[in-house]
Amino acid sequence: MQVIKTPAEMQRWSRTQGAAGLKIGLVPTMGFLHEGHLSLVRQARELSDVVIVSIFVNPIQFGEGEDFDQYPRDLSRDFALLEKEGVDVVFAPEVRDMYPEKMSTFVEVTALDDKLCGRSRPGHFRGVTTVVSKLFNICQPQMGFFGQKDAQQAIIIKKMVRDLNFPLEIVVGEIIREADGLAMSSRNVYLSPEERKNAVVLYQSLLKAKELIAEGVNKPLEIIDVITNLLNQTPGAVIEYVEILNGQDLKEIEEIKGKVLLALAVRFGNTRLIDNLLLEV
Ligand code: PAJ
Repeated sequence: MQVIKTPAEMQRWSRTQGAAGLKIGLVPTMGFLHEGHLSLVRQARELSDVVIVSIFVNPIQFGEGEDFDQYPRDLSRDFALLEKEGVDVVFAPEVRDMYPEKMSTFVEVTALDDKLCGRSRPGHFRGVTTVVSKLFNICQPQMGFFGQKDAQQAIIIKKMVRDLNFPLEIVVGEIIREADGLAMSSRNVYLSPEERKNAVVLYQSLLKAKELIAEGVNKPLEIIDVITNLLNQTPGAVIEYVEILNGQDLKEIEEIKGKVLLALAVRFGNTRLIDNLLLEV
């Protein structure tokens, strides 16, 4: 496994692979890897000829007062995990190499970035779509792998790829969970033991909603009420949003039918957790 640190060298490597007719799969990450990331790596391994995993904690997707500085990092552990998965290249640039000068060019997917997480994190998705565009140009993949865990991010990136004709296919991998159902996240390490125990309420709420929908409840507000109550009864849980939207374009819906996204964001202390359920009703 090769570790490449600069965009120029990464681009040279990718160009050689492309010229040899090899299909490049890219898994963009911010590191501190867990099974959720590794499941994407395994899909990339299966569906492409060579696999690049990028590890870059992207400063421009963090807002003022967010956790950029505290974000957990452990490159040597990440490298060992990726080596075991048979990854070809880890692209791990420094901030000064990704942003050598003040940026004046940004990629923004309007109409989708002001909902859900976009509302409480203004500028976040612009930072994501800008860095992902840079990573696509640097790594030149034919396939990009993203997780359903970040449902809004996956929808926004697919829209960006269509709108800007990026020559690649996006694959979205299912949410990987801990044994008790908590969605894996690099940020779960921030939780105290007490918070970690209570955090399972996110998944339990989604299961409850799924049950109600299966029983025929089809009014979003009814489901949102039940979930809000469940979350409010949980010590330490502070709701940021509970929403049920169209699973393709994130538009509001009056009735639960077709492709539906049920999305939650809940804070425990300073830790912000998200989870979601994508249903075909
Ligand atoms: P990061 O949070 O490191 O996540 C990298 C990828 O792993 C994302 O596509 C995310 O959706 C996926 N992922 C995270 N947890 C998962 C889980 N439990 N199950 C399945 N997939 C999971 O998302 C980012 O980084 C950044 O915004 C990035 C796209 C790299 C741009 O900076």
